[in-house]
Amino acid sequence: KRVVIFASGSGSNAENLIKFFHNNDNASVIQVLTNNPYAKVLDRCKKLNVSALSFNRVAFSKSDDVLNILKASRPDLIVLAGFLWKFPEFILKEFENKVINIHPALLPKYGGKGMYGMHVHEAVVANKETETGITIHYVNENYDEGAIIFQAKCEVSNSDSAKDVAEKIHLLEMEHFPIVVDDLLKSQISKTKIQSD
Ligand code: GRF
Repeated sequence: KRVVIFASGSGSNAENLIKFFHNNDNASVIQVLTNNPYAKVLDRCKKLNVSALSFNRVAFSKSDDVLNILKASRPDLIVLAGFLWKFPEFILKEFENKVINIHPALLPKYGGKGMYGMHVHEAVVANKETETGITIHYVNENYDEGAIIFQAKCEVSNSDSAKDVAEKIHLLEMEHFPIVVDDLLKSQISKTKIQSD
């Protein structure tokens, strides 16, 4: 199984997924794509020897460049891990039910454009939430609105800062994201299985 990851920033989730699937018979991360040529995820991929490239908005949403790169990669799953742009419909419809995203809050709360990075955790703390968590969901044409696949929660105490919350969320992501991706890949009916029946 072939996994392609989109990231925009640090790439700790991308690295975690790459390591999890390294030497894994079932799947591997074959490529990382980013909209940010300065993203730290590119350095991580170099160290991990995973193909990575950056693209601009024209290549992504105003031409078929990124779509053609994806088609050539033949991904079984496209994973958005800290990717900040909305996925264009013309790409989504080529990969029906194969694009997922991780969001650092319990959707449908604290979702939508602008709710990313520390902003989410600051809002959770400002609203005195007693819990928050992560949401892994299918991607559709709107930010953070696709069908929810998985959620994990953590407590928020009234002494927690946004940074404390971010650290708790990070731990949940490291613990759960690779397992959810692995389970999704295993649940995909592989063509060979159908032919052999
Ligand atoms: C994570 O908190 C993820 O939930 C959100 O963006 C952050 C990405 O972090 N979508 P990293 O780039 O994987 O370190």
